[in-house]
Amino acid sequence: MRVFAKDVSGQKLDRGFESRPLRWLGALSVAIITSMNILVTGGAGFIGSHLAAGHRVAVIDDLSSGVRDNLPSDVPLHVVDIVDGTAVRAVFERERPEAVCHQAAQMSVSRSVREPLFDAQVNCIGLINVLDAAVATACRRFVFASSGGVLYGDVTAPAPETTPANPVSPYGITKWVGERYLEFYAREHGLTSVALRYSNVYGPRQNPHGEAGVVAIFSKKLLAGEPASINGDGRYVRDYVYGVDVAAANVAALTRPLPGVCAGTLTSLNIGTGIGTDVNELEAVVRAEVTRVRAARGHAGGPPAPVHGPARAGDLRSNLVSAARAAEVLGWRPTIAFAAGVAKTVDWFADRV
Ligand SMILES: NC(=O)c1ccc[n+]([C@@H]2O[C@H](COP(=O)([O-])OP(=O)(O)OC[C@H]3O[C@@H](n4cnc5c(N)ncnc54)[C@H](O)[C@@H]3O)[C@@H](O)[C@H]2O)c1
Repeated sequence: MRVFAKDVSGQKLDRGFESRPLRWLGALSVAIITSMNILVTGGAGFIGSHLAAGHRVAVIDDLSSGVRDNLPSDVPLHVVDIVDGTAVRAVFERERPEAVCHQAAQMSVSRSVREPLFDAQVNCIGLINVLDAAVATACRRFVFASSGGVLYGDVTAPAPETTPANPVSPYGITKWVGERYLEFYAREHGLTSVALRYSNVYGPRQNPHGEAGVVAIFSKKLLAGEPASINGDGRYVRDYVYGVDVAAANVAALTRPLPGVCAGTLTSLNIGTGIGTDVNELEAVVRAEVTRVRAARGHAGGPPAPVHGPARAGDLRSNLVSAARAAEVLGWRPTIAFAAGVAKTVDWFADRV
């Protein structure tokens, strides 16, 4: 049974599903309601698949970058392209989710520059298909994977959500437009809507072949005995947040009472650590962990020193987000420090070399 309260303005506040029994999820340490149905788009991917652990979820994924093996065998996987509105609607009618976690996206910045139409098809048309299906099947809560990195641009201090958006790539534009569509659907249909603006997410299961995911890329390279390739002087500062922590933020947004969040509005929340690490420091942390793994396997010495290539045009010098508001609304804080997260990531890749 859903529970509603009213805020001071008399608007309905969604208090979540408080009357249902709770159980603790060991890994994520987030209270979740056992009987709640969640549909995760992009659920076979890096972040989305961490949501599946221990939850009653169904997944939509076209497996363009996600993999079946990321999911527990009992999680229903619908291999569907979100651009196909009819197929998306059929999944919603079958699964009847109470909440949607929309992770599926075209997420390559360079592909968005080369193919802006494709980017818009997946990130705008695909999102609208998912929103239409959610509304048509009376789903009440919608969580959208947005991006702090592409919205805020170059910032040297942790950016709050009030920082003016300044997306420069088609990928950034479609994340911004996605938030606006979500805001419209929330207002029009009374959805409880949250956009989570992630900083740079890293961890086990991240694709090491893409252009993002530098921790994954360096882990794979150094474990293979190859040098990391650092663009320019490497003084590019990012806010690295661990994937399981990001999944926990999603679970909180999907299932918890959200103080101050009104049905019918969009709430955008940053998800990051506010701590900056540059690529040179990052390479040193990955190198130390790879050296540890090599020593444990009886190999002396560490991987080769990094090589510096040309700077990449358009790379931001610094991007950090403040997650103070997520702490208030979701009760969320990052739990895994960067060095510990890199150690887990290197171990995960080492098991697969
Ligand atoms: N990883 C990061 O650092 C980061 C930062 C900010 C925002 N995000 C956002 O987080 C979300 C998840 O990213 P991720 O890092 O887990 O990437 P990922 O590539 O591992 O996950 C995306 C998933 O969506 C699926 N997908 C892609 N296009 C689809 C389509 N047309 N139909 C159905 N499924 C489709 C892929 O197969 C994949 O499983 C994305 O929306 C991304 O834009 C990620």
